[in-house]
Amino acid sequence: MGKELKVQLEGILENQGLARAIAAAYVSQADPTVEELTEVKTAVSEAFSNAAIHGYGMKGGTVNMEFAFTSKDTVMIKIMDKGVGIENIAMAMEPLYTTDTGQNRSGMGFTVMESFMDRIKVDSKPGEGTAVTMIKKLDTYYGI
Ligand SMILES: Nc1ncnc2c1ncn2[C@@H]1O[C@H](COP(=O)(O)OP(=O)(O)OP(=O)(O)O)[C@@H](O)[C@H]1O
Ligand SMILES: [Mg+2]
Repeated sequence: MGKELKVQLEGILENQGLARAIAAAYVSQADPTVEELTEVKTAVSEAFSNAAIHGYGMKGGTVNMEFAFTSKDTVMIKIMDKGVGIENIAMAMEPLYTTDTGQNRSGMGFTVMESFMDRIKVDSKPGEGTAVTMIKKLDTYYGI
């Protein structure tokens, strides 16, 4: 148990800032650098907005977020929705792949998550929802 945090919030874009702030507050416990904090916030933003936009089609629905330190300096973050799910996960994670038919999305969300976090795992089933698990080792370095 320890420092674990579980948060449930409505999957609407209005809550994206709150999701980022919660992630920042949690990770701050490990004394991250400003850069690491920005990376975590951005990755969480991408996963959360995907849940709201794609998972729930902008109609809202529950998003669960789980935070845990798997070691003193390694954080694990899980973002889950019970939305439409992803048919082909490997394809969805390809850079520039998007199912958005408008001009709004660039298809770079997963690529951003992958570049800012050390590991990312996507579990998803059509009709059941999506879980994105991200792990990042923080460069917590004390002294000279
Ligand atoms: N939570 C989710 N539920 C359902 N489908 C998802 C979810 N997350 C991602 N997807 C699918 O994976 C695709 C790729 O996601 P990604 O975040 O990389 O790009 P995007 O959201 O389309 O564009 P961007 O993030 O650059 O605005 C999406 O277009 C969508 O089809
Ligand atoms: Mg996206």
